[in-house]
Order: sequence, then structure tokens, then C-alpha cells
Amino acid sequence: MAKSKQVYVCSNCGADSPRWMGKCPSCGEWNTLEEKTLLVKETKVSQMLVGDQGLVKLGNVDVTQNKKVTTTFSELDVALGGGLVDGQVVLVSGEPGIGKSTLLLQLAVNISQQGIKCLYVSGEESAQQVSGRAARIYPKGEYKELQFLLTSTVDKVFATLQDNDFDLVIFDSIQTISDDDVVGVPGGMAQVKAVAAKMVSLAKQSDFRLLIVGHINKDGDIAGPKVLEHLVDTVLRFEGERDGLYRVVRAVKNRFGGTGEVGILEMTGVGMRDVDLAQGVFAGGGEGEVGAVKTVAFEGNRPIVVQVQALVGRTVFPYPKRVAEGVPISRLQLICAILERYAKISLTEYDVYVRTAGGYSLESATSDLAVAAAIVSAFHQLPVGPDVLCVGELGLSGRLFLPNMYHDRLKSVSKYGIKRLVSVAGLILKGVKLLPVGYVGEIVSALK
Ligand code: TYD
Ligand code: MG
Repeated sequence: MAKSKQVYVCSNCGADSPRWMGKCPSCGEWNTLEEKTLLVKETKVSQMLVGDQGLVKLGNVDVTQNKKVTTTFSELDVALGGGLVDGQVVLVSGEPGIGKSTLLLQLAVNISQQGIKCLYVSGEESAQQVSGRAARIYPKGEYKELQFLLTSTVDKVFATLQDNDFDLVIFDSIQTISDDDVVGVPGGMAQVKAVAAKMVSLAKQSDFRLLIVGHINKDGDIAGPKVLEHLVDTVLRFEGERDGLYRVVRAVKNRFGGTGEVGILEMTGVGMRDVDLAQGVFAGGGEGEVGAVKTVAFEGNRPIVVQVQALVGRTVFPYPKRVAEGVPISRLQLICAILERYAKISLTEYDVYVRTAGGYSLESATSDLAVAAAIVSAFHQLPVGPDVLCVGELGLSGRLFLPNMYHDRLKSVSKYGIKRLVSVAGLILKGVKLLPVGYVGEIVSALK
């Protein structure tokens, strides 16, 4: 049903407001708001998403359709909890240039090779660009049958999907394809919400798998912030350094699987490929170094050995710098404060820089000990062997602890060349020597 609505649209930036204002709240220009009458189609998000089904007994529901289809990337399958089910809607988010389009193009080509009908919709790259990229990745021409649509309006996508039957649709991106029925700049909150709701409802009704690309803005939010996350079944986040080799794909929400696992992929000259975790790609070099200490991140069931690096140097600034990449800055500040107070390491005149190999994002507090040990090692110029692993969380009193579930999980670390473990007393691991630490002040003696 169409309804007319009065809005005030800025002639400078296109932002809209329900009231007239002298200054545009979006771009700050004066006297640019102009009155417009719009015909707006009523779309209720709740109705669009799943529709009404009436009363059923859960036991009578047919769940056989929930068979997972592989994405053809085993690491992506791990992150998704096995693959993609019919009608599943996945938001693939990440910074521009991280490799979303590349990975999804490969996924579409590979999946269509298995007889699954795929459509690649792009609002930002022409058929020439996409085809050129595909030709580089697939010199044998496997991409040639893939259907491609360049458009900037969601209605064109709708029309195409109504006339043709597709099993999988890539929608690249939510910020560049807009809805003519809705006012607001493409990529703005209103547009993102409307376009996503339309696409999600169609995917649910027509039972195709839908992968929506969403660029992340500077603050790490998916533009049109949390609205999108509620509408989709799964949110995948791409992490890693844009100029680095490795990409970590993490499911931050998943209605069809767990959220603990991550997938590791590598950007090569000819597209993305799965990484074999056993190679220890985030573990750094094999030599003992000053300021470089290994820890382990448990992502779901798989341990990932990650090297933490620290640089400590005399400051030339009025306030010493604390810079962290791959570790939350608040954690680094806390660890510096604990070292200062309980390990008698005065860092007030020193800058402290901490990063992780490959930009791996360490989210668990059990990496505290490795961060502290890397700083201690850098401060005292004490090299740490490549066979040393530090695991444990630091309390505010400087005491080290480790949740019980880690005792079992650590059993597999000897596979990764670990021979010495710096952690809480009482851990017994076959083939690994324990260097027990109770308080942060004991790190130096454990490392020596
Ligand atoms: P892209 O997939 O366009 O990123 P996004 O869609 O997330 O913005 O990735 C672009 C980058 O990847 C670009 O810097 C070039 C690089 N790249 C490779 O290194 N190898 C390749 O085979 C391709 C296709 C791209
Ligand atoms: Mg792209």
C-alpha cells in the first residue's frame, strides 16, 4: 500500500528530516532543506522477514531442508558451522579492500560448478571488472557461466530474481544498492534497513541462500549499525591486515551453528585460499627473540598459536604512548598498570607498543600473560625461545589464573613445537615442561 509523506530533503547531501530545519543535521549546510512529497510503500519489517505460519507442533516440522551445502572453502565452512542452508542469509562484513568481493566471487564460481544456480549482483563493480578478476583467478574459464547483474536499485534485483530461479545470490554491497521507495542517501540507515529487509524476505520466501556484503566504517560498525545484524541469520566478520596475507573470518552471530570457530584464509595473487592451521601462520618466526612471546587462542575446538610482540622504548612525549594492535588497548593499559605495581617495572617513562603476528585479534584474557611477558622481555632485553608458550589471565592483584577448561584444551599444544609452558602451577602436559608462575613478578625468573 502506498502512502504519501512530507519530508525535507537536503539538496546538498540528500539526507532527510521529518521537519524543516535551517541547518542540515547531516552535512551542516544552511538553507538546503527542501520540502518534498513522497509516495512511500508501506513495508513492515516483521511481515517481510518470515511471514505467518500458524500453530504447529515442532516435532511435525520438516527439518530435512536444513542440509548444509559447502562453500567450497573448508575454512569458511568451519566459521559457518558446516556450510550454508537453504534460505540462509549471511552478512559478510569487513573493511573495504579486505577481500569480500574476491572471496564471494570465488564461492559463486566454485558453487556453480557443482550445478547450483548462482547470481552475482554488484552495485559497485562493472561486469568488465568482475570478469577480469575472475579470468585472473580462473585461467581455465570456469567462471564463464556465472550470471552477473550490475545495478544500483533493489527493484531490479527483485525483478531478476522473480523471472529466474537462483539457489544462491551474492549481493555486493548493501551500501551501493538502494531502494527507490525510500528516501535517504544510499548506504544511510533508512536505505540499508529497507534494502536488507526486502532482500531477506525474498530469500526466505524463495528459499535461496543470500550473502550480503556490508562494508565496515571507520569505527568498526557495519554501516546502518545494528539494524542489519537483527535481520540476517549469520554475521561473518573479516579481520586481518589489508596489506597482510591472512584473513580471519569470524561468525559473530549464527542461527545455524556456533559462533566460536574462526576460519583462516590467505589472499594470494590469484584469489583467496584456505590456510592449513598446522603451519602456525600466526606463530611468528622460529628464532628466539627479544619481545616476542607465543600464546594460544582457542577458537572453538581449534588452538591457534599466536605470537605477541612488544617494543618498549624511552618516550619523547609528555605522556608515554600505549599502542596496541590485535589486543584491546584497555587490556594493554591494564597490563602495564599491573606490571608497574606488582612486577616493579616502571613504565612511566617508556612507550609501549604491542602487536600480534599477522594482525590476529586476541580476544580472550588468557593472552594477558603473553602480553605481560613480551613487555617484560622487551624491557629487560631478555630473549624468549620459540618453544615457549605463555597462557594465563592476570588479576588486578597481579595473580595469574587459568579457567579449568583450559587444562584439557592445552593438551594439543605440543603438536605446535611447544616444549615449555609458562602458566599456573599444577598443569601436567605430556612432553611439555611447566614453568609455573603465580604472580606477575615471577615472569622474569620463569623466562630466564
Ligand atoms: P576485494 O575483494 O575487492 O575487497 P572488498 O570487496 O572487501 O573491498 O579485494 C581487493 C584487494 O585484494 C585488492 O587490494 C587486491 C587484492 N587481490 C589480491 O591480492 N589477489 C587477487 O587475486 C585479487 C582478486 C585481489
Ligand atoms: Mg568489494
